[in-house]
Amino acid sequence: MAELIAFTLNGTPRQVETRDGESLLEVLRERCGITSLKDGCSPQGQCGCCLAIVDGQAKTTCAMPAEAAEGKEVLTLEGVSPEERRMISGAFAAAAGLQCGFCIPGIALRAKHLTDHNPLPSRDEIARALDVHLCRCTGYVKIVDAIELLARAKRGEAVPAPGTDGRVGQSLARVGAAAMALGARAYVDDLARPGMLHGALTLSPHPRALVRRIDTARARAVPGVRAVLTATDVPGQRWYGLLHDDWPGFVAEGEEVRCVGDVLAAVAADDRHTARAAARLVEVEYGILPPVLDPERALAPDAPRVNPAHENLLSRSVIRRGDVDAALAASTHVVSGTWATQRIEHLFLEPESALAEPLPDGRLHLFTQGQGVFDDRRQVAGFLGVTEDRIHVELVPNGGAFGGKEDMSVQAQTALLAYVTRRPVKLTLSREESVRLHPKRHPITMHYTVGCDAEGRLTAVRARMLGDSGAYASVGGKVLERAAGHACGPYRVPAVDVESKAVYTNNPPCGAMRGFGANQAHFAMEGCLDLLAKKVGVDGWEMRWRNALDVGDVFTTGQVMEKSVGIRKTLAAVKDRYYAERGAGRAVGIACAIKNSGIGNGVEEWGKVRLVVEADGTVSLYNGYTEMGQGLLTVLVQFAVEVTGLPASVFVPKVDSTFDLGCGQTTGSRATLFSGRAAMEAAAGLRADLDAARAAVGSDAAQLLRGLAGRVYAGDIVVRDTTALGAPVEKIKTHTAYGYATQLVILDDAGRVARVVAAHDVGRVVNPLLCEGQVEGAVHMGLGYALTEELACENGMPVTHKLRELGVLRARDMPVVEVILIEEPEPEGPMGAKGVGEIGLVPTAAAVASALEAFDGVRRTTLPMRESPAARAMSVGRRRPGR
Ligand code: FES
Ligand code: FES
Repeated sequence: MAELIAFTLNGTPRQVETRDGESLLEVLRERCGITSLKDGCSPQGQCGCCLAIVDGQAKTTCAMPAEAAEGKEVLTLEGVSPEERRMISGAFAAAAGLQCGFCIPGIALRAKHLTDHNPLPSRDEIARALDVHLCRCTGYVKIVDAIELLARAKRGEAVPAPGTDGRVGQSLARVGAAAMALGARAYVDDLARPGMLHGALTLSPHPRALVRRIDTARARAVPGVRAVLTATDVPGQRWYGLLHDDWPGFVAEGEEVRCVGDVLAAVAADDRHTARAAARLVEVEYGILPPVLDPERALAPDAPRVNPAHENLLSRSVIRRGDVDAALAASTHVVSGTWATQRIEHLFLEPESALAEPLPDGRLHLFTQGQGVFDDRRQVAGFLGVTEDRIHVELVPNGGAFGGKEDMSVQAQTALLAYVTRRPVKLTLSREESVRLHPKRHPITMHYTVGCDAEGRLTAVRARMLGDSGAYASVGGKVLERAAGHACGPYRVPAVDVESKAVYTNNPPCGAMRGFGANQAHFAMEGCLDLLAKKVGVDGWEMRWRNALDVGDVFTTGQVMEKSVGIRKTLAAVKDRYYAERGAGRAVGIACAIKNSGIGNGVEEWGKVRLVVEADGTVSLYNGYTEMGQGLLTVLVQFAVEVTGLPASVFVPKVDSTFDLGCGQTTGSRATLFSGRAAMEAAAGLRADLDAARAAVGSDAAQLLRGLAGRVYAGDIVVRDTTALGAPVEKIKTHTAYGYATQLVILDDAGRVARVVAAHDVGRVVNPLLCEGQVEGAVHMGLGYALTEELACENGMPVTHKLRELGVLRARDMPVVEVILIEEPEPEGPMGAKGVGEIGLVPTAAAVASALEAFDGVRRTTLPMRESPAARAMSVGRRRPGR
């Protein structure tokens, strides 16, 4: 029943009519237009994105009934004084204490509350104050730095201003940082349009079942419902996918559902509450079938076929070099074992959301947060049965992705609802729906046999890998291809016999996630290095030093490494620390890593940039890759600044289909590599015109740009020289570039992770603070991977979607992270840079396993290593019994 509540919002009395069961978050966002509060997990109350100060207490408003605000004073960032807003945004921007930014407004308000009551908080007090908050990007290090800066500013002390020097090598503040910190930068779900409808989906509760009948009558009858669509309403191609068109936007009557994220119907209604309620009223009659849940079982000849588009064996990647049997037989030492990794939820803080708006000219404007907006356009156009030019697609930089927003999620259904109703439609998933729907990190089982000679020099690697790709192909075959390609880590191995398989099952689909198969392979290979080191009688550092790749050596795939091989420099950077910590009696683990930068493997890759001089004196910087918190748009501005000499403030980055800049997915640590080069090329054209104009009009930048208004400068980079895995070519070049890393994990006396030292070769440090932040955030993700995170499924259904139970580490669980950035310039990268987005967590789990063995003598081969002192010391990561 509707109830009128009265409260004070940011100093202004408000009266709002609420619905039964409505949360304060819904009232503030949907009725009062307060968008600094984000919805990351409602109604769980476990991410902190919706924090407000209610009668002086910091409260997660998604877990608070609206009527509880009756008579209270509610403060959000919109109501904080201009002076304090300036201090907050300045502190987060200067410290680079934000990446995707989705969690930050909640954290910023918490910081205000904390520093109001404790003007001199310690780092430990800050971390504890953040316990309600989850950040999936930063690893909290720079968030704590930012809160320290805020406290200093509020005490009247001098604090550094956000970086404005945009040259390469300087810590230019992230594009849009101030607005992001204050919650003023809109994400898709913050957008609104006149007459906008809200969408919702009906998902399958079964991992495998025959859909006998779909009845939408009850849903259609709900007042406020404007459309209920099913498979029969799709005018174009209902099946889509990144590599195989094996994923239906709707499952039709007479077909099977293949996982618990399958969509049966989509509803558009006047408000979100009505849309979701109506979606629950869609009646589906299922004939339940036994699901295929085990990848081994899926390969049996009598196994039911999971997906009609492809046999259950999705991919098989093979690498064979040398005579492995002979090499193993001649080896002084041989180790073997089985390593197993788990399914991981990306847990980007911003759930999937799309907005589609019919334009007066008949086109559809699609606001998406996908990792490849041109792929989104292609697939949506196919779904609607229209040509791509009928869709104008625009990226709204997202609230985290980590690979989980490569595949389509809600874009097609949202576009169809708008297409049919001729009204703007926004569709945002709940956290539970998000967990069920998007692809995960692959669980992979790996059998390894590795040999070495008496001095510890590796002789051969044999590896067999089996990955559960779930119900849809996504890029699962490529993940297992990458796992095979990285099977030997950053080491010289003369004889290689690797085979990896990706397999369809009725589990949630698995696809891209930061590290993309390399993490799994390194967990096994680095474990083998440790086992062999013991047999040889050398320590972990020495074992790795003896085998590390040099220029001229051959990588797993057969590629001869010709340039920018920084692994030895990363090892050298941690050497003294490794021996000093061991000498002090501490348990120290070590692991190394290599990670491709660029998809490679024979794929044609592009970087495309357009610089457009606008009439207002700004320069629009268009590129085809997605900003998802990694800082791409900021570093592209830096390349443009470096070449043109213009101030950073002139450039306005944009990602949309104004120009045809499709480059595929933002994946494979390639966006800086390729778009950076394209930005430099486009900037060179602008620079030439600026130089020519300078003689006539002098050096005033505004005047120079006014004279060039309307001009467009293009940068197009294409890379066609990589070779497919196993291709019979004279010169193997599977990837354009590689990043390298060595990490140390140091435990305290109780076996808790006290410190991580992360030495990374990034080619060229374009923006030191952003670069460090990438590594810190990745280490955070890697520690969760190692110790506490898992998306367990029972009968194909995730057993939890609760943030705390998924095991992501909170601020108080983070150890000290020391980042050492090393520059081994990459000749094919912009000013020597190569990708750093993924490699930060590639070695982490193996380094933790190595440290734990040093601590208690137990070699752990299954992730997460929950039964370890390091995991038990964490404050998260356990499901409550019986759930
Ligand atoms: S949305 Fe309220 S705590 Fe996550
Ligand atoms: S910056 Fe915290 S979730 Fe992205």
